[in-house]
Formats: sequence, C-alpha cells, structure tokens
Amino acid sequence: MHVLVAGGAGYIGSVFVPLLLERGHRVTVVDRLYFGDTLGRARERHGEKLQIARADVRSFDRALLKSVDAVVDLSGISNDPSCELEPDLTNSVNVEGAKRLAVAALEHGVKCYLFSSSCSVYGHGEGLGLTEASVRHPVSLYARAKAEVEDFLFDLGKSRGERRAMTVTCLRLATVFGLSPRMRFDLAINVMTKNAYVHRRIMVDGGGRQWRPFVHVGDVARAFELAMTSEASKVAGEVFNVGSDASNVQILNLAFRVRDAVPGTEVVHAPTDPDLRDYNVAFDKVQRVLGFKAEKSIDDGIREVLGALRDGLVDPEERRHYTLRQYMFLREAERAHRELSIEGTLLTHASHASHAPRASGRQGSREA
Ligand SMILES: NC(=O)c1ccc[n+]([C@@H]2O[C@H](COP(=O)([O-])OP(=O)(O)OC[C@H]3O[C@@H](n4cnc5c(N)ncnc54)[C@H](O)[C@@H]3O)[C@@H](O)[C@H]2O)c1
Repeated sequence: MHVLVAGGAGYIGSVFVPLLLERGHRVTVVDRLYFGDTLGRARERHGEKLQIARADVRSFDRALLKSVDAVVDLSGISNDPSCELEPDLTNSVNVEGAKRLAVAALEHGVKCYLFSSSCSVYGHGEGLGLTEASVRHPVSLYARAKAEVEDFLFDLGKSRGERRAMTVTCLRLATVFGLSPRMRFDLAINVMTKNAYVHRRIMVDGGGRQWRPFVHVGDVARAFELAMTSEASKVAGEVFNVGSDASNVQILNLAFRVRDAVPGTEVVHAPTDPDLRDYNVAFDKVQRVLGFKAEKSIDDGIREVLGALRDGLVDPEERRHYTLRQYMFLREAERAHRELSIEGTLLTHASHASHAPRASGRQGSREA
C-alpha cells in the first residue's frame, strides 16, 4: 500500500513509519519536523520507498495524496500543556488541520483513513472498564479536540455516496511508553523512569489514585498497521481502544513499580489538586475484532527506557524530548524572528550574505 503518514516524524510516527517500510509499504510523511528529522535511519535503509515532505497539515501540497491508499493522521500538538499554550493554534492544527486533511483524503479517493485519537476522551470516566460505547467526558482542550475530530470523521465517513466512500477508523490510544527516535520524556512511564534514574525521585501529581491505561509504542505501530490492512467491514466507522486490560494502573502504583526498578528512589506527592483525568479502559474489542494483543508490558517499558538511559543511548537533557519545552522554544524563536529579523535573517546580513561571492568576483576582475 502507499500510506501517507501525517506527523510521521513524531514519537509514534518514527516507530510506525519504519514498521510500514519493513512490511513492504510505500510511505509519504507530511510533518513540520518540529522535533527534528527522526527518520534518517529509515531513509538510509529504504531510500526511494520513503518520501518526507517538511510541510504543514493545514497547507501541504495536495498532489502528495495522489495514488495514496491510506492516510494515518498522527499529527498535531500532542499533550495537554502544549495545547494550552496557544488555544487558537491548537484549534487550527488539531481540529481544523485534522478535518481538512480528512476531507482532502476523501476528495483524492483515499480508501482508508485512520485517526490517532486518545483514551483521554474518557476524561473523568465513571466506573472501571470503559468501552468504546461509554460516554466521553473530555476534560482538557487536547481531549476535546480529539472528540470533536472523531465526530467529524464519522459524519464524513457516512455522508458521502458509495462511490467515494472512505473507510474511517479512530484508534483511541492509551498513554504510550517506550523508546522512539523522537523520544518523549513527558509521558508518564518514560518520565517517571527518567526521573528515578536521574534524580532518584519520582513526583506523583494529582493524588495518585487516578487510573490510566498504557501501551508500548511498538504495539501502537502494529495496531495501526493491523487496522489499515484489515477488511473494511471490520473497521469502517469503528472506534478501537488500543492497549491492554492489564496495563490499566493507578498512577501511584506505577510510581512504585518504577521505584522498585531503580533502587534508592523515593516517591513524593506533589502538592497539586486531584487529577481530573481518571479512566480505566476495556481493550477487548480491539483483540476480538482485529486480533490485536499488546506484546510489551509496563515493566518491559520501564526496563527498556532504563536500559537506554544507563547505556547513554538517549540524552535525558535534550530539549526536543520534552514536548512542551520544544513548543515553548519554537514559539520564542518565532517571536524573536518576527521582532528582530531583517530580510529574513537574525545574525547574518541577508543582502551581504547573498552578494558576498559576486563581490569578491568583481574585486578579482578589478585586480586583473
Ligand atoms: N503519545 C501518546 O501517549 C498518545 C496517546 C494518545 C494519542 N496520541 C496521539 O497520537 C499522535 C502522535 O503522537 P506522538 O506521541 O507521536 O506526538 P508527537 O508530538 O511526537 O508527534 C506529532 C508530530 O506532528 C507534527 N506536527 C505538529 N503540528 C504539525 C502540523 N501543523 N503540520 C504537520 N506536522 C505537524 C510534529 O512535528 C510531530 O512530529 C498525536 O495526534 C497524539 O495526540 C498520542
């Protein structure tokens, strides 16, 4: 298949794209590369089967959708605090951008459309074992945006005639963990493991009694590929929670598990209000309908991240590993550029830089 992955250079994308290539698919990535060019290895290995367009989902060249069989949307601002930073931007990218991408895919005859939603749409869930049919209670801008896009996509999937039909599927991901070329140390398991390793201290926010489900990044990549290659009758108009029942844990319990993996670590309660996000999710549908089973446990993930930190394979101080920090940096850089640049540059002198070689050439001819 030819798959267009929006946000394909992100934490999930940079694991998912190599998996697609290994399985023989052709891939076009559309990504602003906010976290760097994380697909260098994949490009080396798979060369012409991978095209990377550094572009915005809101404005990319629609010709990239030509001959595309499936679109997977992993793009957008990917956590609560980064979304709160600039609500208008969040709406523009996570809601309007996502909707426009789906409409463009439909208009270009794409057959299969997958959206990366989140179990955070359950928000303050009532009871344990929330299913895809449970009422959503999104409690953050990020989660409300996910819910709005889900609704739009299902209407889009239904509203068009048979001839142009596009199979639309939403995967509601549990909170992801594990290593990726675009590492994220702002996700609970990763950050707790990092803090235990670096500071021997884990801070628990919001009381710690709140439930949260987790899933390994490699398992998420497999789930997307599975949904993409499944019969349309199984996935059309469907939502799937992606994770495993066994990986629903209370945050305090998670902290204790990480503490046990890193001797000498203390667990401290942050003086914060109770976390409103509290959801314990059922994952039997994805297993029953698609045959998906998570392969990696929470403890596997803790070991994996800890091993990489111990071996020096991942830098815990790197700004790009922290989503909010990177967006704040980009925002500041954009502001500085807007206020201080002359002819598009900050430190170099644009006309001087572009004329420099010719100037020396002229001087040479004078000397002759
Ligand atoms: N990681 C999780 O725990 C998790 C859980 C549930 C849902 N999700 C969703 O899965 C998707 C991928 O998450 P991730 O963890 O890989 O996040 P990420 O931040 O690592 O990746 C998002 C990618 O989108 C790109 N991007 C942002 N704005 C863009 C724009 N306007 N145009 C083009 N590209 C743009 C970024 O450069 C980045 O590479 C997101 O939609 C996220 O909300 C993630």
